[in-house]
Amino acid sequence: IPWNEIALETAREVEKEVMPLFGTPSAGETIGENVSGDVTKYVDKVAEDVVLGRLQPLGVNIVSEEIGFIDNGSDYTVIVDPIDGSYNFAAGIPIFAFSFAVFRKNRPVYGAIYEFVTRTFYEALPGGGAYMNGKPIKVRKPERGKEALSFYTRGRCLGLIRRVKRVRVLGAIAVELTYLAKGALDGVLDIRNYVRTTDIAAGVLIAREAGAIVADEGGKELELRLDATTKTNVIAVNDRYLLDIILEEL
Ligand code: IPD
Ligand code: CA
Ligand code: CA
Repeated sequence: IPWNEIALETAREVEKEVMPLFGTPSAGETIGENVSGDVTKYVDKVAEDVVLGRLQPLGVNIVSEEIGFIDNGSDYTVIVDPIDGSYNFAAGIPIFAFSFAVFRKNRPVYGAIYEFVTRTFYEALPGGGAYMNGKPIKVRKPERGKEALSFYTRGRCLGLIRRVKRVRVLGAIAVELTYLAKGALDGVLDIRNYVRTTDIAAGVLIAREAGAIVADEGGKELELRLDATTKTNVIAVNDRYLLDIILEEL
């Protein structure tokens, strides 16, 4: 199955349907509640309908952020967030992306994130590296005292702010994980017990393939549950010492 083509074509179709709504009040209108208890905005629904229209004919299982798990009895499960960062989208902040990860049984097969505004396509080939627009990417080596972290803690772990140079909270964790992968951030942590697999599956695959360490709150390798409702914590960094600092501050 040519997952890369399916991912890119789906992302482009979502782009075509949603970009006219960027920054408009109607994009942000609440139209319901999703399976994980979060609101579904109008733009989320428009984007998800495109995704389902593309994936349903393939007969694969689908886990999508609004609708949840669709079991089609396949060995393949595609975990999608049609738009990660929908608050940003509706508010006219240009940081949001399409996130797409494929598993066969429980093993990762492929991951992709498409950042709409910059038109950047990130991919993970499990065991075969991470790519940005077809070119290999790697995490950077952090410089002590100059780290840049994305940081969602809901008031916990505030001592960490003093131990790094830059904090960037961008509002779309899928995008932030690609920034870690390409060497623009040194770490991404969300310890609110709030992110779902749909938010992070592709980002985790891409960051790992680019050399990141992706751990849970105990410092162990993060395991993804292939569902739409489990909430988790994630600590993704480009170097072990940063993980140690974060765990110390928890
Ligand atoms: C959100 C983004 C954001 C995270 C929120 C998520 P959504 O996803 O991933 O980074 O902080 O917790 O809800 O709802 O915009 O797809
Ligand atoms: Ca999301
Ligand atoms: Ca979403």
